[in-house]
Amino acid sequence: MRTEVTTRPQYARIGKHIPSAFSVFGAHHALRMDLHSYSRPDHVAVTHLALDLELDFARREVRGVVRLDLARPDQAGKAGEAYLTLDTRGLVIEAVSGSDGTPRVYAIAPDAQASSPQSLGQALRISLAPEDQAVRVRWRTTSEADALQWLEPAQTAGGGAPFLYTQGQAILTRTWIPLQDSPGVRTTWEARVLAPAGMEVVMSAERRWRAADGAFCFAMTRAVPSYLIALAAGRLVFQELGPRCGVWAEPETLALAASEFVDTEAMIAAAEQLFGAYRWGRYDLLVLPPSFPFGGMENPCLTFATPTILAGDKSLVSLVAHELAHSWSGNLVTNATWRDFWLNEGFTVYFEHRVMEAVYGLERAQMERALSKTDLLREMRAMEARDTVLYIDLEGRHPDDGFSLVPYVKGCLFLMRLEELVGRARFDVFLRDWFDGHAFTSVTTAVLLQELRTKLLTPEEATQVDFAAWIEGSGLPVDAPDPRSDAFRGVERQVAVLRQAGPASVSQLSVSGWTTHHWLHFLETMEPALTIPWMEALESRFRLTATGNSEILALWLRLGVAQGWGAVDGPLEAFLMQVGRRKFLKPLYAELARTPAGKQRALALYHRARSRYHAVSTATLDELLGYTVQAAVK
Ligand code: BES
Ligand code: ZN
Repeated sequence: MRTEVTTRPQYARIGKHIPSAFSVFGAHHALRMDLHSYSRPDHVAVTHLALDLELDFARREVRGVVRLDLARPDQAGKAGEAYLTLDTRGLVIEAVSGSDGTPRVYAIAPDAQASSPQSLGQALRISLAPEDQAVRVRWRTTSEADALQWLEPAQTAGGGAPFLYTQGQAILTRTWIPLQDSPGVRTTWEARVLAPAGMEVVMSAERRWRAADGAFCFAMTRAVPSYLIALAAGRLVFQELGPRCGVWAEPETLALAASEFVDTEAMIAAAEQLFGAYRWGRYDLLVLPPSFPFGGMENPCLTFATPTILAGDKSLVSLVAHELAHSWSGNLVTNATWRDFWLNEGFTVYFEHRVMEAVYGLERAQMERALSKTDLLREMRAMEARDTVLYIDLEGRHPDDGFSLVPYVKGCLFLMRLEELVGRARFDVFLRDWFDGHAFTSVTTAVLLQELRTKLLTPEEATQVDFAAWIEGSGLPVDAPDPRSDAFRGVERQVAVLRQAGPASVSQLSVSGWTTHHWLHFLETMEPALTIPWMEALESRFRLTATGNSEILALWLRLGVAQGWGAVDGPLEAFLMQVGRRKFLKPLYAELARTPAGKQRALALYHRARSRYHAVSTATLDELLGYTVQAAVK
């Protein structure tokens, strides 16, 4: 029943004709096309998925059958050949059938870049019978399933059992499930999951029951984009944190996680107060093993989080505020394409700061705003201008090429600029209406701009913001807000005195009352002066290489590497062998790779650590280091 497709799917050809620099203000945005999906929901759209999955740890393979329920806009007019097009990447498709259970003809488009992390995968085109309201696909995953990370027991806290988790965003869901993998397509879904005995399975949905055969059952009754379908399996236990929130973790990590996240219910309440009801039922957190490539991932009902935020003093819980905020900005109102990614992250960072302000006070929120702008400016110095644009041109590029602090922090600064212009009260009304008015839909940048003009700003106000500079310009516009922190002024005064007096004066530094934020700002402000004598003086008084705070440690290690300071070698190696969070790995490896000898050391370390990292991190680091086995063992 399988035939080869000889031409690329038609929309890929259409995509080529879009002028690459087309403007969000021009007419072309009406195309609303997702360059990163082969699906054609305007012809046939998937509306619901019923998944039946089996997790095979021995073969490191997921086997599944999915029933995809269809909406058929293609039937509205003309008769003729009808196709359902799905995204896949590296899947083995074993069978396809229609509504009546009989086989359907299908074809898999060849993929020129099959082995590249840049690959969009292979379109699966299924011929539909006129009466097909659903199709069933049976498949299994392969070693190319970049969404999946199968962990050895040694990579877990307990060390006794293997672990599996998935990461869908941006376009990895297609590597473990055949579906329309576009953030512009939303479906409800349900799943039945069989796992080895003794394993707990969790998913980004409501937990239903345990079936007679032991399968775990889940249901997501609100329509979500494909990148939010997530699963984890391992030795997991649960602790309640409040009436509608709790935390999953390995038993070894649970108590620490539960105490770190005690304020979760307060955060949910604060978020609701600001921008309207939480619409997803439960909000639970899952603490993953340290190889997780992100700080957090906003999977609905179940945020996935790195254990590196468990600092013991709640100093890094802004990450929870961030992932929680995505329950509005991102999960409720979703970027229609990856070009609109800043709508997800810029709104979320803005929202995150507001939640932090409500729960922990203005001073902390101001410090976090100031730190994020410093980080943005630092990162932008090393970026190409075209990548510092909010509405980034991704034609011919992978969504991950648009990943940087720009959509996050420049996006947030744009919203802060609007707030500054109209005042908080009016801006909050606008945001609440934005989330309500677009709930459970996917939106473009053009829609936002339209509503800013029609619903937020007076014509006079609209002339005061240079939208083109903010949305399509590179770098930061001149009217970018400058978040200031009085607490940081105090740190800066001390730094000025210290730098005058030299390393011996470290003993005079007054750090009483300092939080993680003060430390981060202190080190960033000291950075231009931080030579080895300074680092030794600071280390001997504060033992920063032994800190349990991952943000401070990662920064201290990077500063040490920059100075070629041997004292960080051991802690650096331990860190790189343990932690897979890309935000930490990338600057550390990049700093190492700045000298030829350091580059060789980076490659040797990376060669040993690589198999412990998730594909998201190895894709970035392979490119950064020009990694090949030959280069590493040379
Ligand atoms: N949704 C992102 C993570 C993501 C983005 C995964 C793009 C894949 C593609 C998540 O909400 C996020 O932003 N995480 C941040 C944490 C945050 C506090 C800024 C991270 O992982 O560092
Ligand atoms: Zn985010």
